[in-house]
Amino acid sequence: MGQPVNLGIVGCGAISAQYLQTIDRLPQVNLVAVADLDLDRAREAVRPYAGVEVLSVPDLMADARIDTVLNLTIPAAHAEIALQAIAAGKHVYCEKPLAATGADARRVLEAAAEAGVRVGCAPDTVLGTGTQTARVAIDDGLIGRPVAATATMLTPGHERWHPNPDFYYVPGGGPLLDMGPYYISSLVTLLGPVATVIGAAGRTRAKRTIGKGPRQGEEIPVLVDTHVTGVLVHESGALSTLVMSFDAVATKAPNIEVHGELGSLVVPDPNHFDGTVLLTRLGEKDAAPLPVSAGYEEAGRGVGLIDFAFGREPRAGGTLGIHVLDIMESLLASAKSGRSVDVESTCERPAPVALGNSAAAG
Ligand SMILES: NC(=O)c1ccc[n+]([C@@H]2O[C@H](COP(=O)([O-])OP(=O)(O)OC[C@H]3O[C@@H](n4cnc5c(N)ncnc54)[C@H](O)[C@@H]3O)[C@@H](O)[C@H]2O)c1
Repeated sequence: MGQPVNLGIVGCGAISAQYLQTIDRLPQVNLVAVADLDLDRAREAVRPYAGVEVLSVPDLMADARIDTVLNLTIPAAHAEIALQAIAAGKHVYCEKPLAATGADARRVLEAAAEAGVRVGCAPDTVLGTGTQTARVAIDDGLIGRPVAATATMLTPGHERWHPNPDFYYVPGGGPLLDMGPYYISSLVTLLGPVATVIGAAGRTRAKRTIGKGPRQGEEIPVLVDTHVTGVLVHESGALSTLVMSFDAVATKAPNIEVHGELGSLVVPDPNHFDGTVLLTRLGEKDAAPLPVSAGYEEAGRGVGLIDFAFGREPRAGGTLGIHVLDIMESLLASAKSGRSVDVESTCERPAPVALGNSAAAG
């Protein structure tokens, strides 16, 4: 094993519990302290975990024991917190999207390169056995030459369950910037980077009503498109069709399908680590499950941090994160202009993940 990651978490809201559970069982990661604008929320979040300190954000940034900051704040604060951590000489792993805008994400990556620190970015779900097994199937030629994919996410919207859903309906949110990172990171892992996009988008209403928690019944403004569709033209020539919506009730469509000349794959939900990959071969009627062949087993949110322990470029990394953000911004720009838009950045497909338990990964 490499050096342990000495971690500080900034942002102790809804998603932090999942990270805290994973980190607690990862021997590579030593959680030193947490911070939040709301210190009571931070105290409550780490109550089950003995020895974790609660600090103000400036004190956490200044703490020499901490070498890596896990940024679980809202998208509008991602860049600001990441830049503070980088200025303090710390690596950063950030929840998605990497920043609310591509310009902010570029500032983060440039500052990190100058400071000689690494940037990681969610989603790390695509490092799990679901997407990774599908990747191996494609790399091994089981579907022949990949030609197309579909990616479908339709829900009525997160305000039905999230107690503070404001960030989902302002720039940096919406179904595309919120859920797109899972689907597009998976598509780039499976089919490689994207060269050009064509988008169309709409929104059904100007306000949403909070459905749960202390603010139940409160109306919040909708400042972003809430149904986004598009086509991604991969550098390989493969075409992915994307539908991301907070305006629909439900769907029976698979989360992701990948079609090749010799076979079609059903890829499990990229918002989860595992799930069954199904293959239908040309000439066969039924889909058959593929055995799990790659990826972190028994993984949880936070396994993307493992790469920091080994000094390698994070596979859930900043270069992929910025490419995914560029694809999403290009889709929205295309929807606005009615023209196709070339994606500014590119990236390598992240290195594959060998089959193994995340706690023992090396
Ligand atoms: N909620 C989910 O199910 C979920 C799932 C996956 C990813 N995410 C991502 O995780 C991130 C956080 O989401 P959440 O649902 O936990 O949000 P949340 O609103 O519940 O929590 C965010 C926390 O960050 C704190 N915060 C905001 N700005 C800050 C700042 N400048 N300094 C310090 N603390 C600050 C807030 O006080 C709050 O406690 C988002 O990027 C979101 O997209 C959320």
